[in-house]
Amino acid sequence: AAAAAAGPVVGSVMAVFVTRRIPAEGLRVLSQAGGCRVQQWDSEEPVPRAELLAGVAGKRGLLCLLSDRIDREVLDAAGPGLKVISTMSVGFDHLALEEIKKRGIRVGYTPDVLTDATAELSVALLLAACRRLPEAVEQVKNGGWTTWKPLWMCGYGLSDSTVGIIGLGRIGQAVARRLKPFGVKKFLYTGSCPKPETAAEFEAEFVPLMRLAEESDFVVVTCALTPATQGMCNRDFFGRMKKTSVFVNTSRGAVVNQEDLYDALAHGQIAAAGLDVTTPEPLPTDHPLLSLKNCVILPHVGSATYATRSTMAVLAANNLLAGLRGEPMPHELLL
Ligand code: NDP
Ligand code: DGY
Repeated sequence: AAAAAAGPVVGSVMAVFVTRRIPAEGLRVLSQAGGCRVQQWDSEEPVPRAELLAGVAGKRGLLCLLSDRIDREVLDAAGPGLKVISTMSVGFDHLALEEIKKRGIRVGYTPDVLTDATAELSVALLLAACRRLPEAVEQVKNGGWTTWKPLWMCGYGLSDSTVGIIGLGRIGQAVARRLKPFGVKKFLYTGSCPKPETAAEFEAEFVPLMRLAEESDFVVVTCALTPATQGMCNRDFFGRMKKTSVFVNTSRGAVVNQEDLYDALAHGQIAAAGLDVTTPEPLPTDHPLLSLKNCVILPHVGSATYATRSTMAVLAANNLLAGLRGEPMPHELLL
């Protein structure tokens, strides 16, 4: 599936490797740039590890996705000529940043441009989980809908609720902004430190994680995956949540201990969950979480609008080019 797309060559050629088929607008930016020669893994499917190691060898730039683990092995395979890594994602937990920094490699990423799409999807997932939408659709299809029944298919609504946001960053704020008009009574949030100016818009209160678990009717996880957040939503956390509460994760799967989440959902410790991200991805089709009616799982589609993905690809391409030219990047991750 690998293919080469050669752009015009001016002066010394800077070779770059693109690890996947990306929206055409992004590739066009690269192929029209003078002095940049693009080699691409031109497939919808991830580049196999061996092809990644071979593809990156001798390259000056790498445009990768969140599904590519960029570790010491990849950096060694690339060699000392690698100067820029541009990821088409805002998350950067797939990049071995310490190793990258040590080698003086610059990193570009794609914040802001996907915030609205991801917040919108987070709200959709929350509503799908709390109002049991997939289950209800299934009932219509399988004949379970026999008549209007007062006690049937009830869930939980947002009016007068308390919403706890884990990570009131760009996406967390955008989620809160969208949920507020649903009649949320109180926002709580947690993070590494209080952010009074940011929180003022939602009159959100900074609380410790366990208090957020205890008091929230809805928990929405929008933090970055870091050593501190890995496995943070565990047995203890779910054990503190109300039996009527709903858990939503659109950050990274590894923030959640999935065995503990399964137990909490299966034993009625919490009411429902909506996950856009899992460990691993894809989640095996025989995974226990998929057997639960009260767990809605999506295939990591938070940023998946045509416009957003196109903008992400263009931004990733422009980050890469700026890095190659030694210019300021539109969005550089400062290491
Ligand atoms: P931001 O950097 O703006 O926000 C990240 C937030 O994580 C910050 O508010 C930070 O809070 C918080 N955080 C860090 N450490 C902790 C902690 N120990 N406990 C609680 N919160 C913590 O990033 P974005 O909002 O742009 O993106 C967030 C994440 O969403 C990305 O890293 C990515 O993994 C994921 N994502 C998923 C998508 C999807 O398709 N499902 C799409 C886009 C992003 P503080 O400042 O206080 O440290
Ligand atoms: C990201 O950008 O980190 C998302 O997970 C995908 O858009």
